[in-house]
Amino acid sequence: MKAIVLKEFGGPEVLRVEDIPLPECGPDDILIRIRATGVNRADLLERQGLYPPPDPQPRYQIPGLECAGVVEKVGQRVTRFHPGDRVMALVSGGAYAEYVSCPADNAWIIPEGLSDVQAAGIPEAFVTAYDALVDKAGLKVGQRVLIHSGAGGVGSAAIQLARQMGLHIATTVGSAEKAEHTKNFGAEIAVNYHEQDFVEEVRKWSGAQGVDAVLDFVGQNYLQRNLSVLRTGGVVVVIGTLSGAKGQIDLGELLKKRLIVRGTALRSRPSYDKMHLVQEFQEATGALFETGRLRAVIDRTLPLDQAPEAHRYMATNKNIGKIILSVSQG
Ligand SMILES: NC(=O)c1ccc[n+]([C@@H]2O[C@H](COP(=O)([O-])OP(=O)(O)OC[C@H]3O[C@@H](n4cnc5c(N)ncnc54)[C@H](OP(=O)(O)O)[C@@H]3O)[C@@H](O)[C@H]2O)c1
Repeated sequence: MKAIVLKEFGGPEVLRVEDIPLPECGPDDILIRIRATGVNRADLLERQGLYPPPDPQPRYQIPGLECAGVVEKVGQRVTRFHPGDRVMALVSGGAYAEYVSCPADNAWIIPEGLSDVQAAGIPEAFVTAYDALVDKAGLKVGQRVLIHSGAGGVGSAAIQLARQMGLHIATTVGSAEKAEHTKNFGAEIAVNYHEQDFVEEVRKWSGAQGVDAVLDFVGQNYLQRNLSVLRTGGVVVVIGTLSGAKGQIDLGELLKKRLIVRGTALRSRPSYDKMHLVQEFQEATGALFETGRLRAVIDRTLPLDQAPEAHRYMATNKNIGKIILSVSQG
């Protein structure tokens, strides 16, 4: 099969298509013939040698954390799927390829009416957003949330989910164009952080109360300010560290307001943990995708061999929603 194998680490040019054997399909696995795969920030780090796959180390290091496609083969203990089923899946690597093998429990049937490209934009962004809003922040209808990087893949998913949960949503973005889009996704205010201070704007919007939760992808540069916009008992969910992973906080504020800072990561979780999350997510959202109330926002689709171009584009921060690689079988 054709796959993008990392034989060296470096710039986008190291993403080259190679011919390698098909992955093995274990007794609890399914082999998926991939039609489309999502690009994630983590792939850019992995390409630079900064985000190794979890153990056991694969024979070929292939980026790609999610895909949509068709079940080609099922392992002997798998009863949920059959060859020919259209599925999407969360994988811990290997999706920049024509085929990937993954635990059956980390895949689910593509909701009625969704294209392969739309489906490929769902697993990583939406499951991460669901985990953060529901499991990590425990948000309830009527509460307030600040979602940073609201036009990104995860941000655009989180805003839509938050709207379905009946939350009040503020977001931060890097341009006026992104601000418009995030309001269409469901944000009540979109703060362009190049021009405005989000702490000040969120205080005005929330009537000085602050927010119940912050979903953060920025890390270092925002950590203290995230604490400042929280109301008493609020929680910051750290999902990414785009500006750096080290930070200083005022522990006095943490104590006084009884705040929580907690992290989350999907890739490194054991398969059974992902299984529970995937099942919960699927039950909560399947119908919402079928009726179009939730949708993956797709910025653009490029063929697999243009993965270098996809990475260069993501690094410019210009994408609104997901970048997808389409995989045509040769
Ligand atoms: N924990 C997990 O399991 C998990 C899962 C998925 C993703 N993630 C992480 O979540 C983050 C977002 O992923 P994504 O797929 O949504 O990425 P994305 O689509 O590329 O969006 C990221 C956006 O963040 C903003 N940004 C980038 N660098 C920034 C900086 N230094 N300061 C402030 N804003 C910055 C940019 O938007 P603006 O122009 O609007 O600033 C950029 O477009 C990444 O760090 C990713 O690794 C974590």
